[in-house]
Amino acid sequence: MARILTGIQSTGTPHLGNILGAIIPAIELSSDPKNQSLFFIADLHSFTTIKDKELLRKNTYSTAACWLAFGFDTDKNIFYRQSDVSIVCELTWYLSCFTPYPMLSNSHSFKDKSDKLSEVNTGLFTYPVLMAADILLYDANIVPVGKDQKQHLEITRDIANSFNHKFPNSLTIPQEKIDKKVMTIPGTDGQKMSKSYNNFIDIFLPEKKLKKQIMSIITDSISVDDPKDPENCTVFKLFELIADKSDVLELEKKYRHGGYGYGHAKKDLFEVMLEKYKSQRELYNHYINNQSLIEQKLIKGAEKANEIATTVLDRVRKNIGY
Ligand code: ADP
Ligand code: TRP
Repeated sequence: MARILTGIQSTGTPHLGNILGAIIPAIELSSDPKNQSLFFIADLHSFTTIKDKELLRKNTYSTAACWLAFGFDTDKNIFYRQSDVSIVCELTWYLSCFTPYPMLSNSHSFKDKSDKLSEVNTGLFTYPVLMAADILLYDANIVPVGKDQKQHLEITRDIANSFNHKFPNSLTIPQEKIDKKVMTIPGTDGQKMSKSYNNFIDIFLPEKKLKKQIMSIITDSISVDDPKDPENCTVFKLFELIADKSDVLELEKKYRHGGYGYGHAKKDLFEVMLEKYKSQRELYNHYINNQSLIEQKLIKGAEKANEIATTVLDRVRKNIGY
């Protein structure tokens, strides 16, 4: 049996990039009966940037509702909130005593922000150590993530190896799984879709707002009559990720032929998105309107997660001599 583990920060409602790049591939892996999956909401990581109590809670529920809407089986697997397994902070401490300072100062998550050092709190600096603890606390074998998280997995392995060197047989060395099929999903401005660039598409928005987001996708200024290059168009790229093959071929023809404008293409993308995610949008709203259902699942998940975590931490404590 392989133990699969991944987390997603609760910094907002997961967007199309998160869903196609992380959530769907992880759920597919979890459906293999040979695997056991632990998926969690990284609300301690969110605390590095969000200090608003209501917002933290709201984001936890919207992140959880998204996993549930896409069909994560919480009976077979383990679904929990990071902060409900507080011993992860104890393991973070042990690991931080094995983490060389330069390893963290060279990490992308810190480097990206190091031009504004006064705004970097220590939690943000040690973000990769908490992430290593998230993984190592559960003896995880495989960690499905997007390409941007590769370095964090390398850091995790480095820390675990030096810990094991001093205290043998303490930690399981994990491997990342990066889905090569899923390239980086572009946002409305054509760059990587990200909450931090405010260029995301939130498929759970009410229709009017979703349409507005889609209509805001930036395109070039080729006129309606002229032929267009689908390869260079964000609307087309998003359509291609979602629609059936025959519809994609049809759209490609319209682009190359001309007489079909970007406005038309955006409307078609909107329609296909509503159709494709109809049931997920309904389920998402069902959970958001019944947060006690989410809470029940997270509490049950935390019990199961704590059980595994306690076993692993006991082993680590014993090996250190505590
Ligand atoms: P964001 O950039 O919006 O803050 P996160 O860093 O919280 O996203 O990413 C959560 C997960 O979603 C990660 O595994 C990440 O690799 C994946 N992911 C985020 N944005 C994209 C994207 N544009 N395309 C593909 N995967 C993505
Ligand atoms: N850092 C990850 C992200 O931003 C979220 C995360 C936290 C995570 N802990 C993890 C991912 C453990 C995988 C495993 O996407």
